[in-house]
Amino acid sequence: MWNKIDPKTMNKNVFSMIGDQWMLITAGTVERCNTMTASWGGMGVLWGKNVAMAFIRPQRYTFEFVEKNDWFTLSFLEERYRKQLALCGAKSGRDTDKVKECNFTVKTGESGAPYFDEAELVLVCRKLYWQDFDRTHFLDASIENNYPNHDYHRMYVGEIVEALKKG
Ligand SMILES: Cc1cc2nc3c(=O)[nH]c(=O)nc-3n(C[C@H](O)[C@H](O)[C@H](O)COP(=O)(O)O)c2cc1C
Repeated sequence: MWNKIDPKTMNKNVFSMIGDQWMLITAGTVERCNTMTASWGGMGVLWGKNVAMAFIRPQRYTFEFVEKNDWFTLSFLEERYRKQLALCGAKSGRDTDKVKECNFTVKTGESGAPYFDEAELVLVCRKLYWQDFDRTHFLDASIENNYPNHDYHRMYVGEIVEALKKG
């Protein structure tokens, strides 16, 4: 059963949640959505709102879904789903139905934004802002090493409108 929680009561470490546990960024509709694994991101407070940040390279199929929709969700899954997370980070939704392959169940909250019933925690985010990284603003030259193809991430800042925890 899913419970709506106050993001302030989240008791997991954000760095391990994003960097080690990984998350699924999902956007679209129940009928047609796409998801991808992400291990870069952020959570914080901006413009007086609780926000989450996602960084998506423009060639990702998920990019198209996040672009076209006002919402995206971040699903955090337990360790037993590591294989599925790896698959969603290796295959593109352009070539395969990842939701089907992972046997995930798509759910939606009040916003209609899709997330996965298999998750233990879901952040439903309403897009507030986007910006593409500008290489002329990199203050550490080594950052450029992440972009041999000049495919600079687009940053999305989303307001965390719902935080849902499996209880
Ligand atoms: C652990 C892990 C973390 C990843 N983090 C990101 C990320 O933060 N941003 C990004 O654009 N791609 C990231 N990727 C790559 C995408 O998940 C991968 O390219 C995926 O196949 C894209 O799927 P799509 O084309 O269906 O959107 C990551 C992959 C893995 C395995």
